[in-house]
Amino acid sequence: MAGRRLALLLVAVAAAFLAGASGRRASDSARFPLLRLAAPASLADLARSDRQRMAFIASHGRRRTRETAAGSSASSAAAAFAMPLTSGAYTGIGQYFVRFRVGTPAQPFLLVADTGSDLTWVKCRRPASASAPANSSLSPADSGSGRAFRPEDSRTWAPISCASDTCTKSLPFSLATCPTPGSPCAYDYRYKDGSAARGTVGTESATIALSGREERKAKLKGLVLGCTSSYTDPSFEASDGVLSLGYSGISFASHAASRFGGRFSYCLVDHLSPRNATSYLTFGPNPAVSSSHASPSSCNAAAAPRARTTPLLLDRRMRPFYDVSLKAISVAGEFLKIPRAVWDVEAGGGVILDSGTSLTVLAKPAYRAVVAALSKELAGLPRVTMDPFEYCYNWTSPSGEDADVAVPKMAVHFAGAARLEPPGKSYVIDAAPGVKCIGLQEGPWPGISVIGNILQQEHLWEFDIKNRRLRFQRSRCTH
Ligand SMILES: *[C@@H]1O[C@H](CO)[C@@H](O)[C@H](O)[C@H]1NC(C)=O
Ligand SMILES: *[C@@H]1O[C@H](CO)[C@@H](O)[C@H](O)[C@H]1NC(C)=O
Ligand SMILES: *[C@@H]1O[C@H](CO)[C@@H](O)[C@H](O)[C@H]1NC(C)=O
Repeated sequence: MAGRRLALLLVAVAAAFLAGASGRRASDSARFPLLRLAAPASLADLARSDRQRMAFIASHGRRRTRETAAGSSASSAAAAFAMPLTSGAYTGIGQYFVRFRVGTPAQPFLLVADTGSDLTWVKCRRPASASAPANSSLSPADSGSGRAFRPEDSRTWAPISCASDTCTKSLPFSLATCPTPGSPCAYDYRYKDGSAARGTVGTESATIALSGREERKAKLKGLVLGCTSSYTDPSFEASDGVLSLGYSGISFASHAASRFGGRFSYCLVDHLSPRNATSYLTFGPNPAVSSSHASPSSCNAAAAPRARTTPLLLDRRMRPFYDVSLKAISVAGEFLKIPRAVWDVEAGGGVILDSGTSLTVLAKPAYRAVVAALSKELAGLPRVTMDPFEYCYNWTSPSGEDADVAVPKMAVHFAGAARLEPPGKSYVIDAAPGVKCIGLQEGPWPGISVIGNILQQEHLWEFDIKNRRLRFQRSRCTH
C-alpha cells in the first residue's frame, strides 16, 4: 500500500509540473524557466540581478569576521563539506531530504534538495505580534508538528529590507509591497502547480561540517534565506523547507560552490530506501567521483565504475535549471527515432536534470518513441490498469522475482559519448505489490524534458559548475 501511495504522489508531482508548464503566468517565479523566455526584458533583469546578487554576497561576506568564514582562507580553497541526504519515501513524498543547520546557535532542519529552484526557505515561527495577517486559504508554516526556524533566536539573522536593491532587483519573486523602507522584503514564491510559499527574506549563516581527517565545523555566511510564514501545498508538510541547488546568483548551491571548488555532487539512494539509508550532498571535490582517466596505480581500476562526463550547458535562458545535451535514447540496443528538436533548446525542446522532480518527463515525440519500444519488449506480460500510468504490468508471473531480467535495457546518450544506463527499476518502477509501470510521463511538445530523481537514483552526480561539466557514475551510495 505504501508503494501505491508513493507512486500516486510521484505522479502528482509530475502532473503538477506538466500543469505548470502549460499554464503560464507572468507573476510566477523561477521554478520554470520557460516563463522567463516569454519576457525578454526580464531576462536582462535577471542577468543583471545575478551579478548584483553576487556583489551583494561578496560584500556581505567581507563585512564579517574573516578568520571564521568558511572557504575564505587559501588553505580551505580545496576543502569540502557534506550534508546527509535521504529518500523522503517514508513520508510518501518522491523527494530527497537533506539535513541542514542554520542560524546561530544552529537550528536543525530537513529540507527538500531541489536543483530546480533558487530560493532556500525554512518554515518560520514568529512571535504573534510579528505575524502577517492570517489568510484562511493558506497553512501557517508553524501549524504542523514539525520544526520551525525562530529568527529572533538567531544572532546571525539579518532581514533584507524591502527598499534595498537586493529586494527590488535581485529577487525575482519579491513583492512590491514596502510600507516603510525598513520593512522586511516579502516574497511569494510560486511553484507551477499553483502552490506557493510566502514570507520574508534575510541573510543567515549555515553550520557545515568540513570533510577532512578530523571533522571541523564552520559557518557559511551571507546565505539568502526565506523565512516562510505560510504555504499552500500539503506536500510541504513532510519537510521543513527547500534547499535551493539551482544555478542562480542567490541559490545555496551557487553560494556554497563558489567557496568550495566550484562544484557539488550528490548520490541518490534507491527512492524506496528506508529513512536510515543515508548518502551525501557534497560541496567541493568528492573523492568518490572517480577520475575520467583510469588510474594505472589503482589495483581495482577495472572493477570501479568510471565517471562519464558531458557538458553542463548552463544556458542563461534555462536558469536556474541544469540543462544537458541529450543526443539519443536506445532501448534494447536500438536507437530510437526521435526528432532532434526535442533535445534542442533553440528548437523549443531541451533537457534538464532535476533532483526535485520524481518521474522523468519526456516531451511527446520522445515519450511516444520510448514507451513504444519498452512496451514492445514487455508485450509478453499481462497488462493491468493503474491510473494514471499508461503502461502497467502484472509482474506476478510464473518467473516471479526473476522477472526483473525482463526489463529491457534503456540507455540515455549524452554529448561526449556519456551513456547513462539506469537500473531497470528506475524506469519500469514498482507501482504496487506485483505491479510495475513504465515510470515516465508524457510532456507537451514543444516543451522541455526533465530527467527526474528516480532515473538518477543509484548514481553519483557531480555538477562541476566552474568547468561546466556534469559527471556521473553508477553507485550504491553507501558511503
Ligand atoms: C489569500 O490567498 C489567496 C490564494 O493564495 C489569494 O487569492 C487571496 O487574495 C488571499 N487573501 C488575502 C486576504 O490576502
Ligand atoms: C536500517 O534499519 C534497519 C532496521 O531498523 C536495519 O535492518 C538496516 O540495516 C538499517 N540500514 C542501514 C543502512 O543502516
Ligand atoms: C496478477 O496475476 C496473478 C496470477 O494470474 C493474479 O493472481 C493477480 O491477481 C494479478 N494481479 C493483478 C494486480 O491483476
